[in-house]
Amino acid sequence: MPRVLAYPAPPLTAGRIVLRPWQEGDLVVVAEASRDPYIPQITTVPAPYSDEAGLAWIARQGERVAAGVGLPFCVADAATDRARGFCALWLDERHRARARCGYWLAPSARGHGLAVTALTLVADWAFASCGIVRLELLIEPQNAASRRVAERAGFVPAAGMRELHGRALSRFVRAAPHRKVWRPAVPGRV
Ligand SMILES: CC(C)(COP(=O)(O)OP(=O)(O)OC[C@H]1O[C@@H](n2cnc3c(N)ncnc32)[C@H](O)[C@@H]1OP(=O)(O)O)[C@@H](O)C(=O)NCCC(=O)NCCS
Repeated sequence: MPRVLAYPAPPLTAGRIVLRPWQEGDLVVVAEASRDPYIPQITTVPAPYSDEAGLAWIARQGERVAAGVGLPFCVADAATDRARGFCALWLDERHRARARCGYWLAPSARGHGLAVTALTLVADWAFASCGIVRLELLIEPQNAASRRVAERAGFVPAAGMRELHGRALSRFVRAAPHRKVWRPAVPGRV
């Protein structure tokens, strides 16, 4: 099971999006995200924004990959390659086969189901190719849009809350598909 993940090649893609590494040309979406009232509160997206801080944020995404923390994908338009948001797979340091996802979209990209598509792509790939057996999302109870995204991507609410940076967060989980191979109880008889 790999502990340092690499971006899949060819990149994950479905519908209108492709998931690829962050690059300096994505600064515009970081600037838009920094003006969102919520994203800077729950991420390291800089607010107030400056090009220098935005470029440092993009550089940090590459550093996280190199450090083996996980894979922060840029959610980009499949036709134009324009960056529209973020969807990450963060490995759990203590449990080799567990990981957490996080996501945001620029306000101008919302309302088209892109987050569901991105999260589903990342989850399916993590289960199929990264040895992950359980994924977790941490969502503020009042974040109705994110809860809906989680449910549509196959996550279900789990018991217990988590506290992160002083916020009480609800847990949503999705397990890897069960790959049980059916065999007859008595060989040769069905
Ligand atoms: C969460 C987020 C990625 C969702 O973006 P999106 O995929 O474009 O979401 P949509 O606008 O398509 O809404 C997703 C679903 O939630 C519903 N929804 C949206 N806002 C809602 C609200 N305030 N109350 C109830 N439902 C809401 C939509 O109707 C949609 O439901 P449907 O799929 O049944 O039609 C986006 O809102 C965002 O980036 N928010 C800020 C960052 C954030 O919260 N990230 C997640 C942290 S856990």
